[in-house]
Amino acid sequence: MKIVVKKDKLEAAKYAARLLADELKANPETVFGLATGRTMEPLYAELCEIYKAEKLDFSKAVSFNLDEYAGLPGSDVNSYRAYMQMNLFDHVNFKSTNLPDGVAPDAEAEAVRYDNAIKAAGLDIQLLGIGNNGHIGFNEPGTAFDSRTRHVKLTDATIEQNQGLFPKPEDMPRYAFTMGIGTIMEAKKIILVATGAAKTGILAAAVAGKVTEDVPASVLQNHSNVIIVADEDAAAEVPAELIAAE
Ligand code: GLP
Repeated sequence: MKIVVKKDKLEAAKYAARLLADELKANPETVFGLATGRTMEPLYAELCEIYKAEKLDFSKAVSFNLDEYAGLPGSDVNSYRAYMQMNLFDHVNFKSTNLPDGVAPDAEAEAVRYDNAIKAAGLDIQLLGIGNNGHIGFNEPGTAFDSRTRHVKLTDATIEQNQGLFPKPEDMPRYAFTMGIGTIMEAKKIILVATGAAKTGILAAAVAGKVTEDVPASVLQNHSNVIIVADEDAAAEVPAELIAAE
């Protein structure tokens, strides 16, 4: 695990965006695993800038998002499909982009379909944020490390963290689809981005604490190709000896 610390959230976003751009340049057919959340907004803005400035070409690349709210159609402004269109997909030329269908009539079948599609494509690089409770995707504390893509109930902590993004907080869905931890761990490379003081304790627990299902992101200590990109606030409690000299 390589841990890179940048001055602030913008510098962290720029560093992570550069990693994604370099990946695409090295392999035009990259299969990207993508994430949502406030952390990723400056990162996608930067990736769109690099796309224009360096004429990146996503036309042979495909993407699979980590998660989607259950019960929201992609046309709903609060869906992760809408977030992705707004922040990235409307601005770059992906060959195809994939998210779970939040309103699929059979949730279980939709989860299996999505997991199979990811498996068939093979994730080259998976981008992750981290929830305040250590969740990755919507894999909440206690999730089995070998879990696959599925329909899940959100915890109170996650509802608390995300409901402010909804015009009416009570409208935030209580269920979601998420790639499983086992699914995520099959990605060849993983980049986790954590910024801001709200992530300080949980980031330290994830990278330097015990590997435990109580802290889903701690599973990354078991993966052979992980880069953690944090800003100084989020990294404040990460032991100095774990931080890469840049
Ligand atoms: C959300 C998403 C995660 C995301 C995380 C962090 O609930 N399901 O995929 O990484 O929480 O969000 P934020 O960047 O807004 O802190």
